[in-house]
Amino acid sequence: MPIGLNKYPRNFDIRVKSNRKRQDFVFAKLPGDKSISQRAIVLNAIAEGRGVVRNILRSADTWSCIRALRLLGVKLVWDGEDLWIDGVGLTGLRPPGGKLDIGNTATSARLLMSLLAGSAFSAELSGNRLLSKRPMDWVVKPLMEMGAEIKYLEREGTLPIKITGTYPLRAIEVDATVPSAQEKSAVLFAGLFADGTTQYRQQCQSRDHTERLMRYFGIDIVTNGQVTSITGGRPFAGKEVQVPGDISSAAYLLTAYAIRRNEEKGDLKINDVGANPTRLGYVNVLRERGVHVTLENCRMLASNEPVADICCRPGPLPAAGQTEGVELIQSLIDEVPLLAAISAFASGVSIIKDCGDLKDKDTNRLDTTAKALVQFGVDAASDRDQIKVVGAGSGPLQPAVVDSCGDHRIAMMAAVLASSLEAPSVIRNCGCISVSYPSFLKDLSQFADIEILV
Ligand code: S3P
Repeated sequence: MPIGLNKYPRNFDIRVKSNRKRQDFVFAKLPGDKSISQRAIVLNAIAEGRGVVRNILRSADTWSCIRALRLLGVKLVWDGEDLWIDGVGLTGLRPPGGKLDIGNTATSARLLMSLLAGSAFSAELSGNRLLSKRPMDWVVKPLMEMGAEIKYLEREGTLPIKITGTYPLRAIEVDATVPSAQEKSAVLFAGLFADGTTQYRQQCQSRDHTERLMRYFGIDIVTNGQVTSITGGRPFAGKEVQVPGDISSAAYLLTAYAIRRNEEKGDLKINDVGANPTRLGYVNVLRERGVHVTLENCRMLASNEPVADICCRPGPLPAAGQTEGVELIQSLIDEVPLLAAISAFASGVSIIKDCGDLKDKDTNRLDTTAKALVQFGVDAASDRDQIKVVGAGSGPLQPAVVDSCGDHRIAMMAAVLASSLEAPSVIRNCGCISVSYPSFLKDLSQFADIEILV
């Protein structure tokens, strides 16, 4: 089956090997940022009047979000890459008349839980097999304190749940229980429905797309140090939001480039990528480890999100290093598998600490990352909240057969590693790539020969 299509079967395997072509690698446009796409859709859905989200990520996760909002009575209409949304206001969502299935997306699940908590009707929310294992208790707890009734329908702490909402919610003060931006965002979205000022104290600076977007929408939200306060119960108007390219998607291309031999590459350029400082951890660590990566043409979008072009030129393979600290890890949380992968090319031992949160991603990503590396012949292991990788210097990895276990970030990390090898590797269960980066295989085919196996 040809690469180049954005449409693939529901599930499939791939065979990948380096194409060894020497060229400049140019990516004129990347799919929109997943975190910002979902926040912009949900915020416009509860705004007053019409809004539009441009360069939205058209992936399985955003589709799930859109489908659920349609069932709640919101009109969302595609126009090319743009999505027009007729907001229904804070009290305008309607009972869904059936279960809301939010598929794989934890971000949308947690944002919708807040919307449902602030809406005076009952609804059931469920997710797919992987999402149903992920913790929801740290969102459920504050929402119940704010006045929503929430029942676990199968297992304590996880989806499916039944939420009976109420309007207005009670404004409360919440101290973070996890370093997650999703807990923060869920509380802030619930704060929109509250009769007063809700406060959230984060454990460390996590991604701040919600705060930036809400400020752009004219919502009364103020951040002071680690505390963000939001005053609810006030209507706000729908807006035009331009979504920057997803830096977490760009990271795969940057890694494929950085591990490629200098004789086989010119320069790399990826245009219009989100450059929010709370998401730049991977780029910063690569730079510290000697990769010649820079951000050029930096500018600010109207919606308060910085954007830049990512540029890289040939240089040494990355050095080994230790990466630690909850805030730094949060700024590269989705890139930890790539950081482990790139460490396999360094001389010496690399340790990525403080990433216990990865146990609660689509898979236990600490384990699935280490296992994938081991398949490539790398000495890697996960232990409690860290991953250790013994790099082989410029010594070759071996071609591998890797199962993604349904985790999009593992499938793409393994495909990137395979793109550095002359002999083919097989990555199994790649349908999940559509969760975040449907055009990934097309983009990676600048570096690799890829065959779809069905
Ligand atoms: C996300 C936050 C991160 C990240 C996820 C998207 C978001 O999760 O891993 O892919 O949109 O807020 P945590 O904040 O739970 O670490």
